[in-house]
Amino acid sequence: MARFLLLILTVLFAATSSQFIPPYTEDCRTGTYPPSGPTFKGAVSWYTVDLDLPPKDRWTAVIADKKTELVNMIQAIRDLADAFVPGGKLVQLVDVTLPLIVDTLPYPFGDEIKGIAAASGVPLGEVILFNIFYEVFTVCTSAVAEDANGNLVHGRNLDFGLFMGWDAKNKSWVLSELLKPLVVNVDFTRNKRTVFKSTNFAGYVGMLTGIKPNAFTLTMNERFSLDGGYIGILEWILGKRDGIWMSFLTRSVLENATSYEEAKFRLAQTKLLAPAYFILGGNSTGEGCIITRSRLTSLDILEIDAKRGRWFVLETNYDHWKEPLFLDDRRTPAVKCMNRTSRANISLKTMYDVLSTKPVLNKLTTYTTLMQVSSGTLESYIRDCPSPCMPW
Ligand SMILES: *[C@@H]1O[C@H](CO)[C@@H](O)[C@H](O)[C@H]1NC(C)=O
Ligand SMILES: *[C@@H]1O[C@H](CO)[C@@H](O)[C@H](O)[C@H]1NC(C)=O
Ligand SMILES: *[C@@H]1O[C@H](CO)[C@@H](O)[C@H](O)[C@H]1NC(C)=O
Ligand SMILES: *[C@@H]1O[C@H](CO)[C@@H](O)[C@H](O)[C@H]1NC(C)=O
Repeated sequence: MARFLLLILTVLFAATSSQFIPPYTEDCRTGTYPPSGPTFKGAVSWYTVDLDLPPKDRWTAVIADKKTELVNMIQAIRDLADAFVPGGKLVQLVDVTLPLIVDTLPYPFGDEIKGIAAASGVPLGEVILFNIFYEVFTVCTSAVAEDANGNLVHGRNLDFGLFMGWDAKNKSWVLSELLKPLVVNVDFTRNKRTVFKSTNFAGYVGMLTGIKPNAFTLTMNERFSLDGGYIGILEWILGKRDGIWMSFLTRSVLENATSYEEAKFRLAQTKLLAPAYFILGGNSTGEGCIITRSRLTSLDILEIDAKRGRWFVLETNYDHWKEPLFLDDRRTPAVKCMNRTSRANISLKTMYDVLSTKPVLNKLTTYTTLMQVSSGTLESYIRDCPSPCMPW
């Protein structure tokens, strides 16, 4: 519902803006991999986060590298807040109230967030806000597919920044652009060995995209619902704390679950602060699903069933049994391109083609990640969508 209103507002505003004239869509791309050209802005660099360190020290190296970019991005959020409520009142409220909840966050998240605030010099409340923001404002495409040999391939576009300030001169979303330099790949280790890997925004401690080599791959997409995230998060701030933050659950699952089945059970059954879609891939044939979540429980689990022709599952931001919003149909073009690729030819390479086709690729797309569980591969690329390109 909130998304619907945002889209209506965006369309009203877009109607006055000539760069939104079609073509928004294009025929399925081919031969886009290895990434190059104007839709590819660069490879993502790797960092190690040592889980044996105390939580407050784990992100120091990442933040030391990305401090300027983090400060710039937070400043843009402040500017947006000031445009909304002039005089800095909203930012003051954030700086004063949000630090009060940091110690209510489950271990190790509160301490990691404090460490990030200390290392970057950004006020604690604003780092918390940044971590909440991702929980409720990500729009995405995720797909898990099984190739003809039973190998699982998992890809995703992370789209973020809808309605967070349109830069008319650059024809881009202010926040999406500022997030791109913050994208990092992280190798989480214990005893110097990889526990899991993820694509992340520096400064953010939850997980939206990750792989546990040889076990499972996981992405999270936002689900819009009347019983939405704002209510659960408000309840948390006001003291009712029986749910868990969505991206903290995905992080905990990546860190602790040891199999597809265990991951699926925890993602389906744990009470959440907000609804979500979890897209989970396993390590053997038939293991791939979309878990559609309400705050309380799983509403539906759609699984790969290659024998009956369903060799992939694909999720954007709408329940799979409902039509997507007509203004925001990234699902039909993505499914069309998956169909055209066929099970015989699906691979990291052709998954990248699908995720590079407009409007699956759009002005909000910050990164594309490709994962293959059997080889433990996670690779990610910063994206750009030069005009003409769908704004969402
Ligand atoms: C427009 O984009 C360019 C390149 O991304 C950047 O250098 C410039 O600062 C942007 N302009 C504005 C007004 O944000
Ligand atoms: C799949 O995961 C299970 C559970 O972690 C593990 O026992 C098994 O060895 C894995 N299989 C492969 C092919 O990696
Ligand atoms: C994709 O293929 C499936 C199975 O053949 C079919 O039901 C579906 O309509 C196709 N979708 C698109 C968008 O081509
Ligand atoms: C799969 O790829 C091969 C080689 O690139 C091509 O010849 C073949 O037509 C493709 N098959 C389908 C069903 O697209």
